[in-house]
Amino acid sequence: MKKITDIAHDFLMEAMNEKSIAVDFTAGQGYDTLFLANHAQKVIAYDIQLEAVTQTKALLEEHHCQNVVLLHKSHERVNEDVECFDIGIFNLGYLPHGNENITTDGDTVIRTLKKALNLLAGKGRIVLVLYPGFEAGKKESEQVEAFCAQLPSKQYDTAKLIMTNRKNCPYMMIIDKH
Ligand SMILES: C[S@@+](CC[C@H](N)C(=O)[O-])C[C@H]1O[C@@H](n2cnc3c(N)ncnc32)[C@H](O)[C@@H]1O
Repeated sequence: MKKITDIAHDFLMEAMNEKSIAVDFTAGQGYDTLFLANHAQKVIAYDIQLEAVTQTKALLEEHHCQNVVLLHKSHERVNEDVECFDIGIFNLGYLPHGNENITTDGDTVIRTLKKALNLLAGKGRIVLVLYPGFEAGKKESEQVEAFCAQLPSKQYDTAKLIMTNRKNCPYMMIIDKH
């Protein structure tokens, strides 16, 4: 089976085209940002860690990407930079090979999701990759799932994609806006 992050890219790809405005809410090492940059018109990417911003910037420069606005700030401030977007990803948890204590926070993610859903265009999609394999990640996953479950079905479809024979493996949530 493909890695969950590759499956997340498949789901992003399905809902995006060369005119799409994309948001990477957690730039990290820059792999998701690069993927979006290769397929969307414009990408706005956030990370609170300078180390992550530096890594993402280097990856984008290596690939000659010029359609990304890379921001060293919390995704919670998305409404300062984005009027409307079509596709978004939250790849949660901590920066691989970085400080594992600096991780995404469930409360902040929910507040950001509420703002993001108001900015998401009709037929838009948000994909979340969740990591319940550590304590904070488990709590965050439960919070995100509960939030998705209560979204009104008149406006949104939400889904969960998870391997059923592995404990605490990373998994995905998808939110589609009608
Ligand atoms: C799992 S990594 C992201 C992986 C990344 N998308 C990639 O392709 O390499 C999670 C990132 O979220 C960042 N982060 C944590 N809280 C954040 C926040 N409030 N706003 C933006 N980024 C945040 C962390 O600094 C970390 O780099």
